[in-house]
Amino acid sequence: MDVSQSAVWSALVTHKQEIEKLHIRELFQQDGERFKRFSIQWGELLLDYSKNRITPRTMELLLDLARSVELEKKRDEMFHGAQINSTEQRAVLHTALRRPPGYSLQVDGLDLSAEIADVLAQMKECCERVISGSWKGYTGKRMTDVVNIGIGGSDLGPFMVTEALRPFAHGQLQVHFVSNIDGTHISETLKKLDPETTLFVIASKTFTTQETLTNAMSARAWFLTHATSQSHIAKHFVAVSTNRAKVVEFGIDEANMFRFWEWVGGRYSLWSSIGLSIALFLGFDRFQELLNGAYAMDEHFCHEPLDRNIPVLLALLGVWYNNFFNVSSHAVIPYDQYLHRFPAYLQQLDMESNGKRVDKQGQTVAYATGPVIWGEPGTNSQHAFFQLLHQSPNFIPADFIVPLKSQNPAGEHHDILLANCFAQTEALMKGKNEQEVRLELEAAETEPSQLEALLPHKVFPGNRPTNTLLFGELNPFALGSLIAIYEHKVFVQGIIWGVNSFDQWGVELGKQLAKAIFPEIQGDESVSSHDSSTNALINAYREARMKKMA
Ligand code: F6P
Repeated sequence: MDVSQSAVWSALVTHKQEIEKLHIRELFQQDGERFKRFSIQWGELLLDYSKNRITPRTMELLLDLARSVELEKKRDEMFHGAQINSTEQRAVLHTALRRPPGYSLQVDGLDLSAEIADVLAQMKECCERVISGSWKGYTGKRMTDVVNIGIGGSDLGPFMVTEALRPFAHGQLQVHFVSNIDGTHISETLKKLDPETTLFVIASKTFTTQETLTNAMSARAWFLTHATSQSHIAKHFVAVSTNRAKVVEFGIDEANMFRFWEWVGGRYSLWSSIGLSIALFLGFDRFQELLNGAYAMDEHFCHEPLDRNIPVLLALLGVWYNNFFNVSSHAVIPYDQYLHRFPAYLQQLDMESNGKRVDKQGQTVAYATGPVIWGEPGTNSQHAFFQLLHQSPNFIPADFIVPLKSQNPAGEHHDILLANCFAQTEALMKGKNEQEVRLELEAAETEPSQLEALLPHKVFPGNRPTNTLLFGELNPFALGSLIAIYEHKVFVQGIIWGVNSFDQWGVELGKQLAKAIFPEIQGDESVSSHDSSTNALINAYREARMKKMA
């Protein structure tokens, strides 16, 4: 059933027309309880969604929309292992990875709880050995550096988390991430490393990803130029994968393989053994706290009524702007430098999940699906793209993510940071109208003709929606919860849009074509089998390559 043909969708279309002219500033003036009405305190985390273009009626209708697609039933199906990834015939059970042990859930004839506990124990043992120094390299030295080689979900999550939780690292190991096939990435990383004390974690769900395997081969070749004997590889290379055969084929000892399962999607995999680099960097107990934080949010998502449910509310607000205001972009602005990779991580989570043009039945959808997700930390972003957020013709909704406590409470930095964060959401909401600008310019004794010329440039329309997520401190538990909020937000939106949020066929075509072009680039013949643009680009590179320019 096409959700955009439903009665509640039509009611939302009408409601949007009714409230379109309302300004959030006026809504605050009319309702002294607005913050209380539209905010949720969950433990140390506060979601303030009062600065949105909503009334109580809007939320009623959006919640009706959620009920009309049987959200709660579908959520429970995911948690109980139904094969909701229909195009790949897979269950979606990343949430099982963070459940406390001892529950009973069978998938593909396996007892999940026992399987997961086994792998966690293996990870714990590895962490203890590497961190304590009892894991020795080929010359008997302890490991000082870990290099995670992976891409997409096998990189973005672990990289984001290790950056975010840097203050919680034990300090015995440095961690590095190599993802890009551009030789610069691996070369620049290897320059900093000593082969005698470096442990490579080759992270790939499929173990067939071109970038990861090519980077891993280069790492191995570099290692062997120093270590000389193949037998030393076992002390310096471990693999994280679902594909045992390919791991062995690559030459990594089975004993050094950390497995995970098909029912963990790549972009949902940081909770699995893909999180090994996180656990090595922080210590296993901190990794467990991250899992605990995510589990706490899973419980909230599963049991809290929809109108008090943080991921559900965020998802519905996103749908409100995406589908009823035709806004196809959503900014995420962390006011915490440690979260500088969070928007990049969310790009894969959200855009690879919901950037789909057909529904689960294969029918072309008649409405917008996943928005463009982007962002940068504040306050840097204020001096880059906030001009557009404040004064572009259309608005872009934004999430502001901010911890109360700084990990580096230097002087007045944190007070200034938070003052800026709160000021921005206030400015985006309130704006500055013509009358206010006029009064300001008159007070500054601006010459009348100059005043009239300047006036339109200085007006801020306001009425620009934001959510603020305020939490105690950016620690492993809080970060686990924050990531799970967004995972579930993406899930809810996928249910409303009726798409499969767990496949990613859209990444395949480029991969296929690159495989065809690669031998052409290396061939002697001029290429003429593509369109004239692609032929010319390939040939320009071939010629440069032949002249040894490339
Ligand atoms: O190309 C997209 C993708 O399949 C992602 O979904 C995945 O996270 C990434 O590639 C890496 O895949 P793998 O972990 O199998 O190397």
